[in-house]
Amino acid sequence: MEDKGKADSSTNPLVAVVMGSTSDWETMQHADKTLSEFDVPHECRVLSAHRTPMQSAEFAVSAEGRGIEVIIAAAGGAAHLAGVLAAHTLLPVLGVPMESKSLKGLDSLLSIVQMPAGIPVGTLAIGRAGATNAALLSIAILANSRPELRERLREFRREQERKVLEAKLP
Ligand code: RP5
Repeated sequence: MEDKGKADSSTNPLVAVVMGSTSDWETMQHADKTLSEFDVPHECRVLSAHRTPMQSAEFAVSAEGRGIEVIIAAAGGAAHLAGVLAAHTLLPVLGVPMESKSLKGLDSLLSIVQMPAGIPVGTLAIGRAGATNAALLSIAILANSRPELRERLREFRREQERKVLEAKLP
């Protein structure tokens, strides 16, 4: 198990960002960045459903007890990480399909989104948009019971709206 060491040591992480390989970091850094912008305590780490199967299961089993409330799982190719983690926890698991070289992430998307009924994985878009939205969706989940965070999310939407309305075309 590789820990990217992104957890704030003074605060227990609420969101875990897990990815199947260090090669996923280029994309998943956008989830890390978004969570940091909202000051959400989180951790980022590499765990693989096939390269570290035991550690992946142990991570998911113990996540709730460590105070994690949402798991973001990113993987590419035969991307079973999110489904495997979801099988071992009642926490919401959000899957982010990585853009693969051979099939441009369509393989990852279908692997993550096509969970049989019974073990849900909330699936986001392929790549950077999915990484950012997984973080925003995690924040929305946390904000259900955190009014201050909900207000920051509202402000983020207002700011986004303002930028669109003020945009000047060349
Ligand atoms: C998956 O295989 C990872 O999530 C990654 O997207 C893909 C390729 O991994 P590497 O061969 O680059 O380590 O497990």
